[in-house]
Amino acid sequence: MFRLKKQGPIARFLTLAAILCAVWTSVCAAEAMPPVSYTAYTSLYWLWEAGVPEAAEFSEAIGGEKVSLSKDSVPHYEELAPVNKLYIEMRYAALNEYIAGNRYQNVLDVACGFAPRSIAMARQGRMFVGTDFAPSIAEIRTVLPDCLSRKQQKRVHYAIADAKDRVGMMRAADRLEGPVCITMDGLMMYLTREEQATVLKNIKAILEKHGGAYVTSDFLAREFVKAATAVVYDDKDAQRVYRQSAEMYEKTANVDFDKAFFADADEAQKFIESQGLKVKRIPLFQRPVALQSAKDFNFGQYQKLESLKNELFLWEITVGN
Ligand SMILES: C[S@@+](CC[C@H](N)C(=O)[O-])C[C@H]1O[C@@H](n2cnc3c(N)ncnc32)[C@H](O)[C@@H]1O
Repeated sequence: MFRLKKQGPIARFLTLAAILCAVWTSVCAAEAMPPVSYTAYTSLYWLWEAGVPEAAEFSEAIGGEKVSLSKDSVPHYEELAPVNKLYIEMRYAALNEYIAGNRYQNVLDVACGFAPRSIAMARQGRMFVGTDFAPSIAEIRTVLPDCLSRKQQKRVHYAIADAKDRVGMMRAADRLEGPVCITMDGLMMYLTREEQATVLKNIKAILEKHGGAYVTSDFLAREFVKAATAVVYDDKDAQRVYRQSAEMYEKTANVDFDKAFFADADEAQKFIESQGLKVKRIPLFQRPVALQSAKDFNFGQYQKLESLKNELFLWEITVGN
């Protein structure tokens, strides 16, 4: 405890200087948000715009203005909106459906950002651990009490862990007891091939210890966005709108998606298998699922969406027997 009153002027000055120095050091030590983490606001925004209720809850708790994309600052906003709402909702809903359909009690959401999966899982009575970089985790932890009851909050834990860090990832997984469903949407495209391999090795170690499966659409992100574009637009516009959409994320995160993506699904599968993992392509949805973002579609778009649900698939990745 500091007792400034009984100190002389020099001692008082030195004490004050020490306090200011400590405050300044802690401000500097607080990690700045890396550019890639800003994409998490964008993902949440599209989910919110799509009409996913728990995304609205998270967005409002974080601060609507912080999450909202400024329509004036996003080139071609009106064209991009229906595609991005559909893409982000498809991948979010498909993983949630997989967890429920396979009755997983434990979810490890890698690079969770601000996805509201924790809310959905806790309300279904499942245990949830989300991992991401420190600034995102700090922010999400502050809004959780606004969205979940105390009982539900006990089912949710957010851990700081770089997906490339084996020890941090295992520590996060060890908070869960029993087989784990590892989910990931929107990480692999921001990593180099070498980093992708490291993340897969870390996931393999978790699956070997805990059992369960790693489920993602990440290795097909480009195909998902292209398919979403083709639902909304005719062939002649689809390619152009896909490129505009990719550029929006590339600019935010300062990456080149073409380097991160695989040429096709077979190449991606070989890569995953080369890390000693077993790969299965499973239906996007195991039962009929209505998507919020389809509510504004005309009949033709709706029909294209229904056939798309049968064409796209998720990767179910395990360590096998
Ligand atoms: C496009 S956002 C997706 C967030 C969330 N999964 C969603 O669907 O809304 C990408 C997220 O990956 C996180 N991220 C990027 N590299 C990471 C790494 N090496 N380890 C952990 N998280 C990472 C970012 O901080 C960001 O939250």
